[in-house]
Amino acid sequence: MISACVIGWPIAHSRSPLIHGYWLKQYAIDGSYTRRPVEPASLAAFIADLPQAGLAGCNVTLPHKEAVFGLVTRADESTERLGAVNTVFLRNGRTLGTNTDGEGFINSLRSSVPGFNIVNDRVVVLGAGGASLAVVNAVLEQGASEVVVANRTLEKAEQLRQRFGSKVLPLAWDKAGDQLTECSLLVNTTSLGMKGQPELAVDLSRLPVEAVVTDIVYTPLRTRFLSDAAARGNRAVDGLGMLLHQAVRGFSLWFGVTPQVTDELHDLVARDIDPDYKR
Ligand code: ATR
Repeated sequence: MISACVIGWPIAHSRSPLIHGYWLKQYAIDGSYTRRPVEPASLAAFIADLPQAGLAGCNVTLPHKEAVFGLVTRADESTERLGAVNTVFLRNGRTLGTNTDGEGFINSLRSSVPGFNIVNDRVVVLGAGGASLAVVNAVLEQGASEVVVANRTLEKAEQLRQRFGSKVLPLAWDKAGDQLTECSLLVNTTSLGMKGQPELAVDLSRLPVEAVVTDIVYTPLRTRFLSDAAARGNRAVDGLGMLLHQAVRGFSLWFGVTPQVTDELHDLVARDIDPDYKR
């Protein structure tokens, strides 16, 4: 029996067990994937004890991603650039850290948008928090020529430029709408539009109609931001795809099978978010 889990504080709302549980059943693997609440004070011991605890590894969610980066034995190059880990696995008794959020983001777009390609393109990212970090790293790795980062706290967008270099262009939050001309991908990484949060209000009138618009928020599945974009003719991709696609590599590392993100899995998680969900 192979065991993995997701750690966070709190962790009760994580949908990762639903995703990995579906795949374990689908591929008839003798394995388990559970939620484990780990408080910050216990984090270092939890990671150090992974090999003895009979775990193949774990996913890491808020607020532990940066701290776990400092606790694993080694991380790959892309994860070093990020300084945040969302997946831990064991090799030869050592704890290795990686981050699959960026590939989850890109693979979700690839699976929803035929021929998705942002080489030499301008991308506009709303927000400069933890989720933005992974998105900015991913779009630069995909060859974007510039990434405009609009954030309420400008200093945090400036820190992203320091981390990733001069292709990152920090922008004041209230100027976001002005910078949408020639943008081919617009991403919301803020918590605005999430259930219980204020709506995201950005003027989309300058956005080319060919641009792809995506939101990392997936509660609700279809945010106002996405429906506004779709209503004016933009292709709108919801945030659930990123959640599903980021889970693929962890499953493969722990359980040895590269799983498929199927429509059936998408609908299973979508109905968990919204019982009235219909494709
Ligand atoms: P995460 O790790 O999920 O990205 P975070 O690090 O708390 O979470 O980042 C939340 C993002 O939403 C930030 O970009 C935040 O802007 P600030 O850096 O100025 O805090 C943004 N955000 C949250 N509430 C906002 C609001 N009312 N208006 C504009 N931006 C907001």
